[in-house]
Amino acid sequence: MAVVLAKSAGFCFGVERAVDAVYRVLEEEEKKNPKDRLPIYTYGAIVHNEKIVENLESRGVHVLKSKEELKALEQGIVVIRAHGVGKDIYELLEKRGLKIVDSSCPFVRKIQKLVAEHSKAGESVIVMGDPEHPEIQGILGWGDGDVTALKGIEEVLCLPDGNGKKIFVVAQTTFHIDKFKTVLETFKKKGYHTSVINTICNATFERQSEAKELAGKSDAMVVIGGSSSSNTKKLYEICKAICPNTQLIQTVKDLKFNSDEAIRNVGITAGASTPKEIIEEVLTYVRNEF
Ligand code: F3S
Repeated sequence: MAVVLAKSAGFCFGVERAVDAVYRVLEEEEKKNPKDRLPIYTYGAIVHNEKIVENLESRGVHVLKSKEELKALEQGIVVIRAHGVGKDIYELLEKRGLKIVDSSCPFVRKIQKLVAEHSKAGESVIVMGDPEHPEIQGILGWGDGDVTALKGIEEVLCLPDGNGKKIFVVAQTTFHIDKFKTVLETFKKKGYHTSVINTICNATFERQSEAKELAGKSDAMVVIGGSSSSNTKKLYEICKAICPNTQLIQTVKDLKFNSDEAIRNVGITAGASTPKEIIEEVLTYVRNEF
């Protein structure tokens, strides 16, 4: 059996940068005399990976789950994760005198700035992405006027006719590129005059295209990633559409191959929050066991 691991599998640049930032802050604090150490927090889990979050928690890095928890802090260092946060959170951190380590991904920061600028200039801004996702919530937090998040094509279809209305459109970094193209065509068909900046991250695009290519050459595909990671779920959908024998697993323990199936080529890829060790574990297992 031939096993191919996608080159783009695993942590993207933004997540790696954010995870490294937490460990760097932690190591700096651990060098200090215990009485001088500042408590460390991350605003939301730094990565959709329970193992890493648990490891950090065991070393004293706590996850803040809400703005209310942040409001209760007296002192400490707060790391902002790659998803970024709204303007209100920066204001709150400053007001409370907390030290900020900003690990917002630069690609997300770019969207936040675009939304801030275009909405301030009086334009109607559409952000294609899941309104429940923290990245989108953070982006909306930079809006200064008419800013709407739309989850997908269904929401666009429900909009009234544009009648030439001008809209500025951006997308969540992990938005599916083909879906984004369909969304833009739909806006045009509905009579909207769109000005668009493609803010879909290259890491996602590369991971998705490589997965697509690999799925086309494989009898079975394995997608590794957390159950709450949206980019992993999207990767799974892409692979499954091309290679029906695709499975989504969190760790090697979830892996299931039907021994009756004639599998010659297995492709492996992983979402942006999947650590190297987990990918290697799966790769070694598939190579040795089948
Ligand atoms: Fe950033 Fe792209 Fe990753 S936006 S967090 S490098 S998926």
